[in-house]
Amino acid sequence: MKRIKIADVLANPTIGETITVKGWVKANRANRFLQINDGSTINNIQAVVDFENFDEALLKRLTTASAVSITGELVESQGAGQAVEVVVETIEVLGDANPDEVQKTVMQPKRHSLEFLREQAHLRFRTNLFGAVFRIRHAVAYAVHKYFNDQRFYYLHTPIITGSDAEGAGEMFRVSTLDPKNPPLNEDGSIDYSQDFFGKPVNLTVSGQLEAELGALALGQVYTFGPTFRAENSNTSRHLAEFWMIEPEVAFNDLKDNMDLTEDFLKYIANYILTNCADDLAFLNEREAKEQKSKPQNERSELSLIERLEFVRDNEFKRLTYTEAIEVLKRSKPYKKKKFKYDVEWGVDLQSEHERYLVEKEFKCPVILTDYPAEIKAFYMRQNDDGKTVAAMDVLFPGIGEIVGGSQREERLDILKKKCADFNIPEEEIWWYLDTRRFGSVPHAGFGLGFERMVMFVTGMTNIRDVIPFPRTPQNAEF
Ligand code: 4AD
Ligand code: MG
Repeated sequence: MKRIKIADVLANPTIGETITVKGWVKANRANRFLQINDGSTINNIQAVVDFENFDEALLKRLTTASAVSITGELVESQGAGQAVEVVVETIEVLGDANPDEVQKTVMQPKRHSLEFLREQAHLRFRTNLFGAVFRIRHAVAYAVHKYFNDQRFYYLHTPIITGSDAEGAGEMFRVSTLDPKNPPLNEDGSIDYSQDFFGKPVNLTVSGQLEAELGALALGQVYTFGPTFRAENSNTSRHLAEFWMIEPEVAFNDLKDNMDLTEDFLKYIANYILTNCADDLAFLNEREAKEQKSKPQNERSELSLIERLEFVRDNEFKRLTYTEAIEVLKRSKPYKKKKFKYDVEWGVDLQSEHERYLVEKEFKCPVILTDYPAEIKAFYMRQNDDGKTVAAMDVLFPGIGEIVGGSQREERLDILKKKCADFNIPEEEIWWYLDTRRFGSVPHAGFGLGFERMVMFVTGMTNIRDVIPFPRTPQNAEF
């Protein structure tokens, strides 16, 4: 008999129909009520076993985590908690799970710490929590592609191995096939990369933006969505060494257009998840509400998870310049009471504590900061007429901090060349990028959305390691 997915059974139950469902046993009450889940939904289907009709040996194998195939009639449920259930006619155990071993895992039905769950990458997918998180992660990815496709953007695949350091941060992973114990050396003792695989030093990409600009200046509007690598040694709840970034790039857009696009895009994703992930979202909403109760009053968030998504969807983001933000911070209570750990002065890079103050305390809504000092931003950002600032924008979200970084790009060749010199970027290395400013250069703009930070926002998870299946962080690349 053809297998039917639990999500489909529950969405469209045909009472009286005989169906086959395959999945994993979530719970077994008295060898009579099995809760079965197949990953297609957070909801289980209840299978009712008339144990007198089955072998003792078979019943013993229906333990938590084991995989089963059941066939039986779909009936209206007698019990509370579910609308329908399957009266089991045949059971096949497809894969056993030893109860003694299950005891030691996250499959044991009790509350586990997220740290413990992280140690069991395989079984954490089976929990309600991570099932919900990863189904929503998928939905966010789908919404990203749908949004851009509907807006006639082209999905551009930019390289993962690259010779360029787009962000100029210098925090890159080297890719090499040279023997680390015995690399070929130049006369001065430095490594001779001309003998390496690509004939020069290359790294894993920190951003696909520079390549995306080449695409945008011919195809009009493109976006990338790919793995991104940063070897920054920041062990925070918001940083990964390997994360995914979405980078749209649009010809003829200025900074204002760029902000409008970002805001529309983020609202679209919030709405998509609210509309399409109701069951998983309800579960996460309730989970967060329970967690909030155990927190002190002043640490609780004012809005629930679902309310936060609705808020982002329905309210305009606050837009102000970096210079205005510095003034706001200098007038703030924590500044006057010396509660900020890091200094607030025009020219400094804002720290997470400052960003969160602006979003969570001052404006209580997503904030777009623009026009940052040139010194603290990348070389490619467009110089403003004041000569001090660039047409940058960062989007700050409640609970997350920076979620998007972007800018209008410097389209004027002479100024861009000067910026390259200032940032010590040799023209021989970046000629292919400078070329775009030689053949019909036009104003253009784009941004980068940290995919995992967006998934954190829509799931309410507070550690970025819990929204990516296999997190890579300093000292950690298990599985
Ligand atoms: O602000 P960033 O560094 O901007 C760029 O890379 C530009 N090239 C984007 C562009 O204009 N096309 O990174 C963009 C976003 C950040 O706002 C953040 O959400 C995310 O990427 N991000 C990280 N996410 C997880 N772990 C990390 N280590 C991250 N670093 C940046
Ligand atoms: Mg940034």
